[in-house]
Amino acid sequence: MADKLMSDLFDKCVAFEDAKRVQAAGVYPFFRPIESTSGSSVVTHGKRRVMIGSNNYLGLTHHPRVQEAAKRAIDEFGTGCTGSRFLNGNLALHEQLEKELCKFLGKEDCLIFATGFLSNQGALSTLMGRGDVIYSDRENHASIIEGQRLAIGDTVKFRHNDMEDLERVLKLTRNKFQGALIVADGIFSMSGDIFNLPAARALADKYNCRLYIDDAHALGVLGPRGEGTAHHFNMPDAADVVMGTFSKSFASIGGVIAANKDVIHYIKHKSRPFIFSAAMPPAAAATVLECLRIVQEEPQHLANLWKNATKMSNELQRLGFNTLNSRTPVVPLLIGDDYNAFLFAQKLYDRGVFATPVVRPAVPEGCALLRTSYMAIHTDEELDYALNVLEDLGREFGIIGNQDRQQELAALAQAHFGVQASA
Ligand SMILES: Cc1ncc(COP(=O)(O)O)c(C=O)c1O
Repeated sequence: MADKLMSDLFDKCVAFEDAKRVQAAGVYPFFRPIESTSGSSVVTHGKRRVMIGSNNYLGLTHHPRVQEAAKRAIDEFGTGCTGSRFLNGNLALHEQLEKELCKFLGKEDCLIFATGFLSNQGALSTLMGRGDVIYSDRENHASIIEGQRLAIGDTVKFRHNDMEDLERVLKLTRNKFQGALIVADGIFSMSGDIFNLPAARALADKYNCRLYIDDAHALGVLGPRGEGTAHHFNMPDAADVVMGTFSKSFASIGGVIAANKDVIHYIKHKSRPFIFSAAMPPAAAATVLECLRIVQEEPQHLANLWKNATKMSNELQRLGFNTLNSRTPVVPLLIGDDYNAFLFAQKLYDRGVFATPVVRPAVPEGCALLRTSYMAIHTDEELDYALNVLEDLGREFGIIGNQDRQQELAALAQAHFGVQASA
């Protein structure tokens, strides 16, 4: 091999400057160590701050019943499973959780994975064979993209939540493939909008596709009791496969794939990320089981979540923020360029409010967001405090109270996120 082709493998690490530049500018928002947390507020760098950047939608991480259940599971089963469920790590607790989850989700069968990320990666890579295709929303989560990458089949993307574009690509390509799967988030993790499941189901039927919904952000949030996107639309059987995570509303870690018996049996015996990875720890599984029971017995958590989410999305829109018209507990604020988003988040943090910016490549160039999200346990005092600081900063950055800038942001929202802008 010619010498000039040889380099040190680590050169790219040394040359990687992006994060260092943000650190040097004093606006680095990542890896902030949380010293203590009540759920809705955290202590970082010695100061209490209102948390509006978490996925703890129902606030169950601090529910006494949940904490008790986790402790009991440690007493009963120890701290870890020390192996794959396939071999030595399958607990009766996992199976009980699967049984109750199937009932809750209205699915014939389901399978618990160690994380949500692994669930998507494991299910998608297993389901897709040679000659098969995934039709994937452009805003789908990274774990779906990793599943697609592992899969032998092909991927065709469609414009975010755009059913005309989905039909366009189906018309153009469907007859080139064997099996087909339409894949989308139920609630999109960054823009907070809800996937148009009824229209996608109709297209799936028309073009002989299966439909896979990632309900990471919808589990515990959408539907009468938090059963997810299909239940929100009152079409409980609309998705052939439902994926969920336990790292958000269910206050733990882990993930689930729910579908019919044949599909779950197949994944259980074929999915390498499932078979060759250790099982979800006992305390984590017990946490989810208790959360599942609580969401069915204590509807006040879901009601409070929606009260708070509606208050915040209404108020932020009223102030003139471009929220991409989100109507869910995930409310993004469109800021524009990456540096301004970092600076905005830093000033917010300095004034006692914790939320993180979303920059390239997670969003298109010039479309940086501040991702805010709300919980059942936020108090009015906490939310009002956050609103006041956001309003001050919104004015300071000229993204509210400035018609011209608001129109520019509205145009960006329309062009890149496909939503009618709110400004
Ligand atoms: C839409 C979506 N899917 C999957 C995942 C992965 O889930 P987990 O973090 O529980 O592994 C996430 C997490 O951020 C997500 O937002």
